[in-house]
Amino acid sequence: MIGVKLSLRLQEIYNLINVRTIADIGTDHAFLPIALIENGKCDFCVAVDIAEGPLRIAQKHIKERGYEAKIMTCLNDGIPEQYEVEGIVVAGMGNDTAISILNKADLSKYKQIIVQINTKTNLLRSWLSKHNYTIKDESICFDKGHYYEIVSFDTSHHEQYPDSEIYLGPILMQKRGDSYLKYLNKRLTQLMKIAEYNSEVNSELAFIKEYLNKEKAG
Ligand SMILES: C[S@@+](CC[C@H](N)C(=O)[O-])C[C@H]1O[C@@H](n2cnc3c(N)ncnc32)[C@H](O)[C@@H]1O
Repeated sequence: MIGVKLSLRLQEIYNLINVRTIADIGTDHAFLPIALIENGKCDFCVAVDIAEGPLRIAQKHIKERGYEAKIMTCLNDGIPEQYEVEGIVVAGMGNDTAISILNKADLSKYKQIIVQINTKTNLLRSWLSKHNYTIKDESICFDKGHYYEIVSFDTSHHEQYPDSEIYLGPILMQKRGDSYLKYLNKRLTQLMKIAEYNSEVNSELAFIKEYLNKEKAG
């Protein structure tokens, strides 16, 4: 059987999953559900996509491996109601699409919701904070020249996060991984250039500077 090789970004999402059944919304080629079933990390997955083309390719990949009983495919806009799963993954989309998918569903049914948007993860954290949801885990990876932040949350109550944590990520700040520190240093350089003509980035810049200075001081 052909083993699926995940991109570094999808591998990082895979690593964060801690439930046995998930629906992957916007599955495209269904690589994530296939890897989860292939490695025995999940028992059952739903591969969901709004577009017929990607779903057809997903179905082909699932059939080739004989996983039709363990991975259902579903043509749907957003999170389908009819499947009993413990977790949801929404990955590889822009913030507006991801938030509109999350807004339309009853998220309290799920133990784990993992979201990876391609840029401006602060907007996602801000949305989570306004809903008083709890960020349970976070990760960051560098894949094909780009840093990707991944957020895992549930709907248990959390007081609103301060702006520093919305920009920097409450769990990433604690984990202090190598990729994270490299990302912050790169972001610092970018923001210092932008700050010369746009003051809107000043608070993010100040949070990053403060964090990196503390980090240097040990
Ligand atoms: C760029 S691909 C990301 C694929 C995969 N999730 C990943 O992270 O590599 C985005 C996929 O999301 C699908 N999509 C976009 N909006 C959607 C929605 N509202 N509901 C379900 N799928 C959607 C698209 O058709 C496309 O296949």
